[in-house]
Amino acid sequence: MRQDEIWDTETALSYDTPGVGMFAPEALEPAVDRLAELAGGGRALEFAIGTGRVAVPLAERGVPVSGIELSRPMIDRLRTKADEEAIPVVLGDMATARAPGEFRLVYLVYNTISNLLGQDEQVECFRNAARHLAPGGRFVVELGVPELQKLPPGQQALVWHSEDGYVGMDTYDVLHQRLVSHHFRFGEGREARLSRSPHRYIWPAELDLMARLAGFGLESRHADWRGAEFTAESGSHVSVYRLPG
Ligand SMILES: C[S@@+](CC[C@H](N)C(=O)[O-])C[C@H]1O[C@@H](n2cnc3c(N)ncnc32)[C@H](O)[C@@H]1O
Repeated sequence: MRQDEIWDTETALSYDTPGVGMFAPEALEPAVDRLAELAGGGRALEFAIGTGRVAVPLAERGVPVSGIELSRPMIDRLRTKADEEAIPVVLGDMATARAPGEFRLVYLVYNTISNLLGQDEQVECFRNAARHLAPGGRFVVELGVPELQKLPPGQQALVWHSEDGYVGMDTYDVLHQRLVSHHFRFGEGREARLSRSPHRYIWPAELDLMARLAGFGLESRHADWRGAEFTAESGSHVSVYRLPG
């Protein structure tokens, strides 16, 4: 399944959930606060900007934000909130596309580096972040820690969330370091809706090596946007990489 088939008009129209889930103030505000701080008064670039979940409130804080995004329907949705002058967006692949100008901060959140399905593409994504940054600039990546410890031997699938009307399940291909996320949404009767997305999962140590290949050093790693300590039990991390200079 290709990314442009996943991030189609139907997905773009149902992506925003104002006030709840990833759009809840408790999820969004700490991220926007931290990114504004890391931008340090300079320009920011969001890889895979989507519908502007993070970029719109960050721009409202006064940070000049640009974006790169592969899906036209997701950009169209963003355009209902901010025009090209407020948040310029380049349609293209975050591993290769070039946004005009130089930035103090590039960020890639919500596990989206895993949407690039090969190690080479993920390394290219780091190199592309470096190309956009001024000396001393930062690249921030928010990413889940692979849940392989929870996968019993001989079993491929892991239910990571279930509630009334919804089951979220990942199926793992440990040989190729990939998983497919399945989202099952059930109605009242027999009907159900399935959406799926493929990912290449990455261990923090491999991510750090990708960063080094692109010239970055790891400046900090926390378990969340508020700066909680990253431990062996952490389910995800916010990693800040920095160029020398
Ligand atoms: C989970 S959404 C995240 C959107 C936004 N960053 C947010 O936090 O809400 C993933 C986004 O990544 C985009 N995407 C996937 N692969 C991409 C690529 N190679 N280059 C640019 N965008 C990509 C999708 O079109 C989609 O908008």
